[in-house]
Amino acid sequence: MEQTRAVLFDAYGTLFDVYSVGLLAEQLFPGQGQALSVLWRDKQIEYSRLVTTSNDGAHYRPFWDITQAALRYSAKRLQLPMDDEAQARLMNQYRSLSAFPEVREVLTSLRDRGLTTGILSNGDPDMLGVGVRSAGLEDLLDHVISVDAVRKYKTHPEAYALGPAATGVPARQTVFVSSNSWDALGATWYGYRTLWVNRYQWPFEELGTAPERTSHSLGDVLLMLKP
Ligand code: LAC
Repeated sequence: MEQTRAVLFDAYGTLFDVYSVGLLAEQLFPGQGQALSVLWRDKQIEYSRLVTTSNDGAHYRPFWDITQAALRYSAKRLQLPMDDEAQARLMNQYRSLSAFPEVREVLTSLRDRGLTTGILSNGDPDMLGVGVRSAGLEDLLDHVISVDAVRKYKTHPEAYALGPAATGVPARQTVFVSSNSWDALGATWYGYRTLWVNRYQWPFEELGTAPERTSHSLGDVLLMLKP
């Protein structure tokens, strides 16, 4: 195995804690917050795949729009009375996410060891910029890479290819870290070394490929630096 030279992270759920979204959903729709946030997240990913795989990407829309469309669908499906104000409040949660507690320390350790760090996310550049600033991570990330540059969402190979293109480090010398099992799988298939951060004790995808390593926190990435 070759020396690791770069570490790229997924954003939502991996670096940024999306817990506050569910909390607000529960405040707005008591007893339905969990159902809304789960369906919303699933629809968001489903829509990202729909627009990537249909008609050569002709229906692409930035992640903010996809996220909003998914929220509207989910509220309708659950028959929740979501007015414009509630919709705006839920969407705005995405603008003020906090980072998981271990993020600063892990990024600092990686930088101290001379590694290149970055985000490779479905989020559009605006969303990511606000997210990185609100979580106070600007000084610890060398690259903030949005798939918007190729208008194709992960797990499309062109989306994953943006990582090595930006860092100059090949995928086999880059660890890709995600808490989304489908993303960890897509990145493994693409050729990255992968860490799946299994925050919820869920099973991994049953498609015959495992990530290189599984952990409960981001810190384990430091164990993957030595060849
Ligand atoms: C991202 C989503 C998929 O940041 O979590 O790419």
